[in-house]
Amino acid sequence: MPEQPPSEIVNSLFADLPQVHAELGNPEGGVWRTDRPCYEFIADRCEPQWRTLETGLGLSTMLFVLIGTEHTCVAPWKSEIDNLLLHCRDRQIATERLTLIQGFSDDVLSTLPQTELDLVLIDGGHGFPTPMIDWYYSAGRLRQGGVLVIDDVHLPAVRLLLGYLDADPRWTSIVKTPKWVAYERESNGPLRESHAQQRFWSI
Ligand SMILES: C[S@@+](CC[C@H](N)C(=O)[O-])C[C@H]1O[C@@H](n2cnc3c(N)ncnc32)[C@H](O)[C@@H]1O
Repeated sequence: MPEQPPSEIVNSLFADLPQVHAELGNPEGGVWRTDRPCYEFIADRCEPQWRTLETGLGLSTMLFVLIGTEHTCVAPWKSEIDNLLLHCRDRQIATERLTLIQGFSDDVLSTLPQTELDLVLIDGGHGFPTPMIDWYYSAGRLRQGGVLVIDDVHLPAVRLLLGYLDADPRWTSIVKTPKWVAYERESNGPLRESHAQQRFWSI
């Protein structure tokens, strides 16, 4: 099957919203989501052969399925996972490259195989310190030049993480909006290090 251009992928995504969160507060459209330009950015950047990972599930998960990346999604609720799979099955959309892991990211991420990733989306739990935990265990697997996308940057715990990333020359800001941001990683390998290696950080 020929690859679809990114704009067509996003059009089909919005033309048929997966009703995955009807049981979980029933957000507008039946699915939690962010701003459309975030999905356009991800669709533009991602190659189908990329390895991607996200914390939290929603419209973004469907986007990764439509792009066809080797995608891992960590989300806690069985209903959102079942609903997404049902949505795909009803439309005969292939999900062999999708791994859905039910659980909280702080339990799951450190147990995953430490394969290298091309893009990470952090949009799961937003209470302190979950965004930092998500970043530590997932962004640490990004290759140099890999892309980190973070949603809900107005929330306090996410703002703290951004304060660090903006100060660290190993993360280059590539998109900044009031709702979501994206960075390119300038380093590689795990993120464990001593404070002495973080001289750029003065708070
Ligand atoms: C705002 S929605 C994600 C929206 C999605 N990224 C999109 O753009 O369409 C938040 C998701 O995070 C999940 N979530 C909440 N706490 C979590 C945690 N501690 N670990 C992983 N996922 C979590 C929710 O169940 C939900 O699937």
